[in-house]
Amino acid sequence: MNLLFIGDVTGKAGITYLAEQLKQLRREETLDLIVANGENAAKNGRGITIGALEELYDSGVELVTLGNHTWDQKEIYDSLDRDMRICRPANFHEDAPGRGYLNCEVNGKQVAVINLIGRTYMGLYESPFQIADKIVSEIRQTTSYIFVDFHAEVTSEKLALAWYLNGKVSAVVGTHTHVQTADERILPGGTAYITDVGMTGPRDGIIGLKKGPMIQKFIDQMPNKHELEEGPRQFSAVLITIDESGKSTAIRRILRTED
Ligand SMILES: [Fe+2]
Ligand SMILES: [Fe+2]
Repeated sequence: MNLLFIGDVTGKAGITYLAEQLKQLRREETLDLIVANGENAAKNGRGITIGALEELYDSGVELVTLGNHTWDQKEIYDSLDRDMRICRPANFHEDAPGRGYLNCEVNGKQVAVINLIGRTYMGLYESPFQIADKIVSEIRQTTSYIFVDFHAEVTSEKLALAWYLNGKVSAVVGTHTHVQTADERILPGGTAYITDVGMTGPRDGIIGLKKGPMIQKFIDQMPNKHELEEGPRQFSAVLITIDESGKSTAIRRILRTED
């Protein structure tokens, strides 16, 4: 089974370039399941709107994960409760809207997608390790195809969760930093890993945002207005191959840009 996971889709530029690249990729590869992190898919890059979510589905994305920007757009809260194709981090408070993992059927097989958020430099959340334990032990009774999007800032926390879940899940991939790392590998237990998949959106900004205000912020440390960058776009993803036992046999990094 080939699972394509697309890193933080950012703004309209992210959605349009994703749609173009998916058309192309479908001609080149067999894609059995397409999952995207949509936490920046709103026009302004903050959270996800109902319209942006629909556009992702129309482009071919089947399941959507989120992150620290989950609550930026209030209009999405109802969809989080009702729509079984989108999830938010499972280690948010249990009373928060939405669900922390998704189930779907791919080629007659059950597949689960879990979203977790890191705590180091991120916020006060339940332990992603304990919550992962709880969910994975439940899910493994019905399937061994388990994919984890770990939305976290710190490389060591992401590696720690990957090694913690090694052999128990098919993949742990990192999101949130918007910068793709070159450390993709299969851990000895058959768990595919990459520290960060990267961002799909404006290529020449600073993690998607306009350079000028971002540079100024690092110089004077004053609050200022941030908008998404314009110009060339990039597409960041990983293609993971999972065998019949739920173990991954390959992970390939994909990074495509305009011009
Ligand atoms: Fe994030
Ligand atoms: Fe993001």
